[in-house]
Amino acid sequence: MSILVTGGAGFIGSNFVLDWLKGSDETVINLDVLSYAGNLENLKTLDGDARHVFVKGDICDRALLDRLLAEHRPRAIVHFAAESHVDRSIHGPAAFVRTNIEGTFTLLEAARAYWGALQGEEKAGFRFHHVSTDEVYGSLKKDDAPFTETNPYEPNSPYSASKAASDHLVRAWHHTYGLPVLTSNCSNNYGPYHFPEKLIPLMIVNALAGKPLPVYGDGQQIRDWLYVTDHASAIRAVIAGGRVGEVYNIGGWNEMANIDIVKTVCALLDELRPSAAGPYERLITYVTDRPGHDRRYAIDARKIERELGWRPAETFQTGIRKTVQWYLDNPDWVARVQSGAYRDWLNKHYG
Ligand code: NAD
Ligand code: TYD
Repeated sequence: MSILVTGGAGFIGSNFVLDWLKGSDETVINLDVLSYAGNLENLKTLDGDARHVFVKGDICDRALLDRLLAEHRPRAIVHFAAESHVDRSIHGPAAFVRTNIEGTFTLLEAARAYWGALQGEEKAGFRFHHVSTDEVYGSLKKDDAPFTETNPYEPNSPYSASKAASDHLVRAWHHTYGLPVLTSNCSNNYGPYHFPEKLIPLMIVNALAGKPLPVYGDGQQIRDWLYVTDHASAIRAVIAGGRVGEVYNIGGWNEMANIDIVKTVCALLDELRPSAAGPYERLITYVTDRPGHDRRYAIDARKIERELGWRPAETFQTGIRKTVQWYLDNPDWVARVQSGAYRDWLNKHYG
């Protein structure tokens, strides 16, 4: 038995693959194009492990998808591959339309052809799990109830619009063609292997380097944070027991303003790696806000809790401490990401 994971060299995908192989001997076929966000060093502990088959390739490549599906006959596809950074989507939306929309379309078509030819139990058991985001629901006002699975879609950034489009394609491939899909919409993740362009890892690595900690606007924007391995366990629960065609919101019931996140990171660093120059909060710098910046996201996770019995294992306090400690313990990973050396290695192996 095997599963096909797309985007398994990125932040959440690599955590998912590591988590999966901790608890299962089912082979993971990991298809990733190794964009700037893909880093095989995240999967170093799987070197020589026959249960992990890495394939460098693009989800827009239909012939490659057909070949992989025919060769490995996975019982599920878990689709993480995407362009994922809102700020990059503002500067260059084309890549988001290509990977998130065209890529998901190509993967759905390949999955439909593959699944259509399956028989019996193989066909009945097959699942296409689409990994999406809470950002498709748009921005909440201060007193609005958290997003449920029935909230209307109101995406505001090129990133969230492209993810919303992909969610719609997944939904339609179920309703029109019967493809057995599952969709999950998760809140902001944090944890090990997070690329330091996103808020939490950027604050950690900048603070350690004595660089400014850029807080957009007034820093009062709210996100709902979930430790990354809790996202992985939620996806496992949905694949195992989710009702076909359904959407599951995943979140940690942990709404926090950005400025409070940054101050928490600073306080942990003051404790774990104090700086001779003084408390890290001195580095906080308010900068021009992101255009169209969503004010608040919050997830109502009661459906997955009720139907599948899923609960996060980490609180924010335990998760953020582990995360800061991980960055302190892995300066080489950070240095190789910052210098670009992680890509030299990839170029040597893959050209
Ligand atoms: P990431 O940017 O860290 O990783 C994306 C991975 O996809 C990279 O390894 C990249 O090389 C790969 N990829 C990009 N284009 C590809 C293509 N055309 N073909 C094959 N591989 C390609 O992203 P992430 O933060 O790990 O997010 C993974 C998924 O989870 C995304 O779909 C994202 O929308 C969703 N999500 C992310 C968050 C979050 O907080 N980061 C929250 C909810 C949902
Ligand atoms: P980010 O990690 O980019 O995730 P997303 O935009 O998908 O939620 O940003 C999280 C929040 O932090 C968001 O409100 C933007 C803000 N932010 C900053 O204030 N400064 C920064 O340098 C970054 C990267 C983000």
